[in-house]
Amino acid sequence: MKKIKKIVLAYSGGLDTSVILHWLKEKYKAQVITYTANLGQGERLEAIKEKAKKTGASKVYIEDVRREFCQNYVFPALKAGALYEGKYPLATALARPLITRGLVKIAEKEGAEAIAHGCTGKGNDQVRFEVTAKALNPEITILAPVREWELSSREEEIKYAQEHKIPVEISKESPYSIDRNLWGVSIECGSLEDIWKQPPSDSYQITKSPQEAPDEPAYLKIEFEKGIPSGLNGKEYDPVTLIEKLNLIGGVNGVGRIDLLENRLIGIKSREIYEAPAAVILHLAHKELERLTLDKDTFHFKELIAQKYSELIYNGLWYSPLREALDEFITQTQKVVTGEIKLMIYKGNCEVVGRKSSYSLYKRRIATYGPEDIFDQKASTGFIYIWGLPLKIMAKVKRGDK
Ligand code: ARG
Repeated sequence: MKKIKKIVLAYSGGLDTSVILHWLKEKYKAQVITYTANLGQGERLEAIKEKAKKTGASKVYIEDVRREFCQNYVFPALKAGALYEGKYPLATALARPLITRGLVKIAEKEGAEAIAHGCTGKGNDQVRFEVTAKALNPEITILAPVREWELSSREEEIKYAQEHKIPVEISKESPYSIDRNLWGVSIECGSLEDIWKQPPSDSYQITKSPQEAPDEPAYLKIEFEKGIPSGLNGKEYDPVTLIEKLNLIGGVNGVGRIDLLENRLIGIKSREIYEAPAAVILHLAHKELERLTLDKDTFHFKELIAQKYSELIYNGLWYSPLREALDEFITQTQKVVTGEIKLMIYKGNCEVVGRKSSYSLYKRRIATYGPEDIFDQKASTGFIYIWGLPLKIMAKVKRGDK
């Protein structure tokens, strides 16, 4: 085995990764460099920096990747219509390849032999980190302390932290495991493991319940340019601000809560709740604009692509040739996905109430039942004769007709 002298650790500042930092130093007698990506998790990153240093990091990296996250991960997934098992907008899953890229980049720059993460052996994230790392640097060693160490509970980790004077704020730790970024919050563990029980209100981080939401509906007008959201209520916004605004408005109105019993890659069924107001709103609006601007065949075919694309993200295959090839297809389809969608949000619901586009394939004079109708109804007779001909012949044969 090659000697490990430097390790780059994906560090969140929570209990697990703090204990890991110390544990790695002891076990490998190596320097541990921490890497924290700012993905809009709403935490004070300065405090994380201090904590990492106090816990013994030889160097601390904090990188603001919010814009890149939106442009290169979130928006491609939005354009693809990627919702895992039809519901989960993939916030956690999309962030993993970006974090791993950061880890590998720093490992190469610092001459580190290994990278490390704090995932358990039961989840999807370990797969995403490690498969991505292999794709980016096939030589790099990947360490997953939680899969091999002797600490088997949170209590033991807390004891370890206290014994080794690792600064952790235990009182602040919630009973849930929470992963948050701009695209959404993923919440599991604690009482959520009882799948018959409604999630308690304290499990939700950024959304109000429908009962607490305002009694008046809110209206949103979202503009898209080639499939990418670019404006809200007549004003242009950069991707990060736009998503933040939608999370806020949606969250206050109780939009974006998802309770999903999902199939993990590792073969376990698990229950996770998600809060993704911006993602829910944008997916709905984007799909509506596609209904208006894409021809039927492309629209239907894209549904198949969406499912495959969501599976690639969920299963850690972001850096795969298939994902890249699908992106080419999707980009081609988005050339006409420019226009505006009007939504009403009210007490947990989000509904499309209007749509427009200069690429609109909806033509009122063709669709109308009013006097301006220009559709030639007689033409349908011939169409139906030919469309129904095979079935008609089969029915005759069945009856024994000549
Ligand atoms: N089930 C989600 C996924 O696999 C989220 C995983 C992380 N969840 C968490 N609460 N830490 O993408």
